[in-house]
Amino acid sequence: MKLLFIGDIVGSPGREMVFDYLPRLKRKYNPDVIIANGENAASGRGITKAIFDDLLRAGVDVITMGNHTWDHKEIYDFIDDTDYLIRPANFSEEAPGKGMTTISRNGVTLSIINLHGRTFLPPHEDPFKVADELIAQAKELSPLVFVDFHAEATSEKIAMGWHLDGRASVVVGTHTHVQTADDRILPGGTAYLTDAGMTGPYDEILGMKKEDVIYRFRTNLPVRFEVPKKGRGQLNGLYVELNDQTGKALQIERIAINEDRPFRG
Ligand SMILES: [Fe+2]
Ligand SMILES: [Fe+2]
Repeated sequence: MKLLFIGDIVGSPGREMVFDYLPRLKRKYNPDVIIANGENAASGRGITKAIFDDLLRAGVDVITMGNHTWDHKEIYDFIDDTDYLIRPANFSEEAPGKGMTTISRNGVTLSIINLHGRTFLPPHEDPFKVADELIAQAKELSPLVFVDFHAEATSEKIAMGWHLDGRASVVVGTHTHVQTADDRILPGGTAYLTDAGMTGPYDEILGMKKEDVIYRFRTNLPVRFEVPKKGRGQLNGLYVELNDQTGKALQIERIAINEDRPFRG
């Protein structure tokens, strides 16, 4: 099974990059399943039903979320009605939605799990323990398991990679919006990347207007961050190929598309 993952889609510039490049990425990689993190898809904060539908229409199969899951109230109206949008599994038991879903292609089933880190982030349930429980469940269906670990600290994400090595097929980090250069296949067969990076504005700060972010750093005065409508874009993600029988990774390739690293088909 071939998987394509797209890192945090930020606002309309991020969505435009997906609409622009997904057809080309499909031609290049011929993926069976496309997963994207959509926690910032609506103006940088959460996701709406219309945006969710647009991303699915563009070819995304499953959307994962993160700390911005609830920023757009609309998500409460549809998260329980779809199998194609998941939020971190270690949120409160009272939270709507679910943290794991499955998708099948040509008789091969993949489980997709979303988890949330606890270092420099709110104290959710233990993501390591929840990962153990969900992977045990997933393995009853299929050895192919994808994990999006939405976390701040590189160390916590690397810890999750090693913790799940040989049990998850893929562990990819999201949330920092900056891609790391450590894509590798761990000894147990887990494809690992600390952070996939984000998809959206290229000349701003983590997708938000840089002038506002610099002002906040300089003054500590309140300012509402905004995603700019215009400007150059970037798309960051990951391509992985898995063995359908064992669930182990055969190939991993970081994807980074921007003005300095143009797409090569
Ligand atoms: Fe994000
Ligand atoms: Fe985040």
